[in-house]
Amino acid sequence: MLRRCFWFVLFFVGLYVCAWGCGGWTTYDEYKCSNPNTTITYNNFVKGFLDKWCNYCHSVTSENRRGAPIAYVFDTYASVVALKKRIFLRSAANNITMPPGPDDPPLEERNKLAEWIVCGTPR
Ligand code: HEC
Repeated sequence: MLRRCFWFVLFFVGLYVCAWGCGGWTTYDEYKCSNPNTTITYNNFVKGFLDKWCNYCHSVTSENRRGAPIAYVFDTYASVVALKKRIFLRSAANNITMPPGPDDPPLEERNKLAEWIVCGTPR
């Protein structure tokens, strides 16, 4: 009886750990700034990153948004900062659900985006 219970509990503990650990997404609140003196800025990196990987769907001027919500526009510093938590969840660090296509930014760039977002979004 005790033995059976053990496996039962182990199964659910495993499931729980996996939901967090193997699920593979990280939220803005979980990710801590490891480089407070970051040299990554909106102008030297983030703007170019978004223009290359996101704005052909997300820009106001996009001629074919491919379903990208109209509220999610990344054309200005202010709009990017306002949406930073959602951008983080979809594209920064190990979050890879945006862009949706087969072409994906390298992890190194996603990590830079993550650092910029959690270290104060310097302009
Ligand atoms: C091929 C077009 C396309 C590209 C490129 C693209 N997106 Fe999207 N995006 C979409 C579509 C379609 C949706 C709505 C469906 C969804 O949420 O998955 C969306 C929704 C979103 C949302 C809002 C959904 C939410 O609440 O999280 C965010 C934030 C987002 N995208 C960020 C990005 C970022 C950042 C990039 C670039 C790294 C990017 N997207 C690139 C098409 C695109």
